[in-house]
Amino acid sequence: MSTIETEKDSGTEIISESLKKYAEFRPSVVQSSIWSKKFVLFVENLSVSFDGFKAVDIPQYGIEHGELRVIIGPNGAGKTTFCDLVSGKTKPSTGRVYFDGKEITQVEESDIALSGIGRKFQTPTVFDSLTTYENLLLALPGNQGWKSNLFQPESKEEVEKIDEILEKVSLIDQREMPAKSLSHGQRQWLAISALIISKPKLLLVDEPAAGLTDLETEQTADLLLELAEEHTIVVIEHDMDFVRRLGKTVTVLNEGQVLAEGMIGEMERNEQVMEAYLGR
Ligand SMILES: Nc1ncnc2c1ncn2[C@@H]1O[C@H](COP(=O)(O)OP(=O)(O)OP(=O)(O)O)[C@@H](O)[C@H]1O
Ligand SMILES: [Mg+2]
Repeated sequence: MSTIETEKDSGTEIISESLKKYAEFRPSVVQSSIWSKKFVLFVENLSVSFDGFKAVDIPQYGIEHGELRVIIGPNGAGKTTFCDLVSGKTKPSTGRVYFDGKEITQVEESDIALSGIGRKFQTPTVFDSLTTYENLLLALPGNQGWKSNLFQPESKEEVEKIDEILEKVSLIDQREMPAKSLSHGQRQWLAISALIISKPKLLLVDEPAAGLTDLETEQTADLLLELAEEHTIVVIEHDMDFVRRLGKTVTVLNEGQVLAEGMIGEMERNEQVMEAYLGR
């Protein structure tokens, strides 16, 4: 792979040609009208250290409006930590995070969520004793407070909105079933449904295919492709069949750094990428 040299605060590093485009959009260098037109999310000099160990260290990287981007990388590469930094769960040691035209680095996690970044965690959070329908009722915007909760009657629009999503994720037949009786796949879809109900501008989906059957994995890929028509999505996944089925640009993270980017076929022919996977 061809490489170029780029200046960075900490010295010179080598980055691949496919990553060069991000350098031209650094918010510290170009006006926000320029980067924000192209990217919904951008990070610059973003790093976080845990006990001296850099879990994430990214000079520049962004997600374009409307894209479905896949992030892959070996265990411990920093994929989930990257989501933690973007969603405000973890504050960075250095650098800045920009979303929807504004800097959000120091914004509280809950305010970042309200501003339009929805997140599905590696282990999906659904309420077992509630039905599928009730889970979505609780996920409606404004229904998380102690006053406006399940005991307040829902409007006709809200019921329609929930049923529309349940149709979309093929859970309409499970509408009245408690979440604990759903399959792994159905739980993942319910967690994704709870995310999209508030129409976030950006969805971060961490390992949606973990623990799923082959069929459920395919169905999850198809669901994300369908959702991608209306949302910008970042999906983290290890399952290569899933990644291939999505057929979108893949970013490879390794040891906290963006190692390469391209279609999955290209990544599989990339020596550095293969070494990163085999080296563990
Ligand atoms: N809060 C934390 N405190 C200390 N170390 C952490 C913390 N969060 C993550 N790490 C470390 O940072 C590194 C990156 O972890 P991360 O969970 O982001 O990896 P990942 O790419 O999501 O891996 P996986 O594919 O296994 O989910 C790991 O070495 C992890 O142990
Ligand atoms: Mg992870």
